[in-house]
Amino acid sequence: MGSSNNQTILVTGGAGFIGTHTVVQLLNDGYNVSIIDNFDNSVMEAVIRIREVVGPQLSNNLEFTQGDLRNKDDLENLFSKTKFDAVIHFAGLKAVGESVANPRRYFDFNLIGTINLYQVMAKYNCKKMVFSSSATVYGQPETIPCVEDFKLQAMNPYGRTKLFLEEIARDIQKAEPEWKIILLRYFNPVGAHESGKLGEDPRGIPNNLMPYIQQVAVGRLPELNVYGHDYPTKDGSAIRDYIHVMDLADGHIAALRKLFTTENLGCTAYNLGTGHGTSVFEMVTAFEKASGKKIPIKLCPRRPGDATEVYASTEKAEKELGWKAKYGVEEMCRDQWNWAKNNPWGYKRKSLE
Ligand code: UD1
Repeated sequence: MGSSNNQTILVTGGAGFIGTHTVVQLLNDGYNVSIIDNFDNSVMEAVIRIREVVGPQLSNNLEFTQGDLRNKDDLENLFSKTKFDAVIHFAGLKAVGESVANPRRYFDFNLIGTINLYQVMAKYNCKKMVFSSSATVYGQPETIPCVEDFKLQAMNPYGRTKLFLEEIARDIQKAEPEWKIILLRYFNPVGAHESGKLGEDPRGIPNNLMPYIQQVAVGRLPELNVYGHDYPTKDGSAIRDYIHVMDLADGHIAALRKLFTTENLGCTAYNLGTGHGTSVFEMVTAFEKASGKKIPIKLCPRRPGDATEVYASTEKAEKELGWKAKYGVEEMCRDQWNWAKNNPWGYKRKSLE
């Protein structure tokens, strides 16, 4: 448990996967937290679980508002009532396929929502921001590991919203130097809270590897489609940098601390990854070991737009944030399985959707 401090942090999208885990760590660290979430891809039960995990005492430091960043009044209502010291901005859509089919929805939620947020923050003189970016801004990196000053490139409308929002952050900070903005580029967040009470609960059929594997393990899906087994890698499957969501949560605390302690920070990006690559087949094997379940697989063609191998350079975050991932693939699978077996249907209390 950290020391108590009186800072109040607004967390947008705080009921989502990364949001819930970060809110728990903020509360444990003594921050007051206010969540705004529209429940587009999250549920109230997640907020109830945050309270269960931190206990009644720290729950007193948590407020929740159901609201939508696209509706400026929702933000005005919040900022006119409470003085926020900083904002951690998770709220946004992240399904690549959906963004290709419906780009306007992505521009609306991700761009308009964030622009509104900056405007209301400026009006109320709250100019410290931690923004959820993504390794997707590296596109198909020419070399690995990905270093923060690589040239950036988007591969789809979702990725474009992250890239645009990074550019918007840089422009705002350049024009108004009193802003301090940290862009956190997440690699592949997986795992769950060790209590087994919080985890990822995507709506519909999961797009991402680990939620898919998890649903095969609990019998919701029959088999895993492995997209690509002819990549030029050690076992033919694609390689990613999976990072435990609790490490990611702690990365946000480190970023906040940096915002509060650094003069002339500007707008700067950090990778949040482990620096280690793991293949799809290795991930399947690790999950089978952790769960004792067989994960049947079907070999499928490559998924369009997928990179062969992506992992982070962790040097900048280690040096400047004093943050480093603690957990390996074994712990990621252990905690994800613990969440899955206790909540086979996610936050829904009963079976079947
Ligand atoms: C994906 C997005 C990325 C986004 C991130 C959010 C794409 C192209 N990229 O990253 O923009 O920021 O999610 O979390 O969608 N795999 C399978 N079977 C599956 C699912 C995935 O074999 O059912 C493979 C993929 O081909 C990939 C690896 O598993 O090699 C990881 O996939 P995924 O979890 O979707 O993450 P990314 O593609 O890295």
